[in-house]
Amino acid sequence: MDPRIEKIQIAAGCVKDWLKGRRPVAGIVLGSGLGKLADVIEDQLVIPYRDIPGFPVSTAVGHKGNFIVGKLGGKTVIAMQGRIHYYEGYGMENVVLPIRVMIGLGIKYLFVSNAAGGVSFKLHVGDLMIIKDHINLLPNPLIGPNMEDEGPRFPDMTRPYDPALIKLALSLSGEMGIELQQGVYLGDTGPSYETPAEYKFYRTIGADAVGMSTVPEVIVARHAGIPVFGMSVITNEAHDDYAEDYQNDGEDVVKAANAAAVKMTNLFIKLIENI
Ligand code: HPA
Repeated sequence: MDPRIEKIQIAAGCVKDWLKGRRPVAGIVLGSGLGKLADVIEDQLVIPYRDIPGFPVSTAVGHKGNFIVGKLGGKTVIAMQGRIHYYEGYGMENVVLPIRVMIGLGIKYLFVSNAAGGVSFKLHVGDLMIIKDHINLLPNPLIGPNMEDEGPRFPDMTRPYDPALIKLALSLSGEMGIELQQGVYLGDTGPSYETPAEYKFYRTIGADAVGMSTVPEVIVARHAGIPVFGMSVITNEAHDDYAEDYQNDGEDVVKAANAAAVKMTNLFIKLIENI
């Protein structure tokens, strides 16, 4: 058997044993500083990544390492409290392993969130941005022999983020009085933040926000035909001017994400209620 498939099956089998018959309909990935959403999941079961055979453990600031299973918006969900980033040194196969495990458990939707830097000058700290498309500057997680049982060799990417879920989010956010931006997320490897020239370059090629995650997870979900909803919390703004009094800082990113987490959490709950 393909060792990659074996690894997924062993990990998924272990999580399934923990679930004792619970069947999550939605997977949720909680980005830097956004792990608090997990606190409002009811009837919680906590599965530490370190207890799952072959699982990578997140070392990133603001990331815990657990699956949290329980009820959110009246549905059974499985949330990743902490994700794995390519910059941590894990191979792409490990970065997307938790997503493939959730797919193996039968999720019907994937909700992804992240902390991102504003590239567009229209985005400000604390803004919530619906990800309507992405640009991938990380290695593609589907490189290598295709896993035919997961999806096709050349998956379509015409609608990477589900138009119906975007429409639903826009309508619900209107009712809830939450203002949403929409934009293109660019995923790069990090871990260094962008230079002024890179901010300009990314803006020129059509990015609105930049981060170091998410895109590989979305590619793997779309490969398997899972509809995806993505949201960025803007935690810092583009500085193209060699400002003397500014620097990007990981702790500030986590603080800004924490501050916006409540708005995002409420929106995710409503969305899940309505899927
Ligand atoms: N760049 C890359 N990743 C990020 C940023 C950023 O400015 N902010 C939060 N994650």
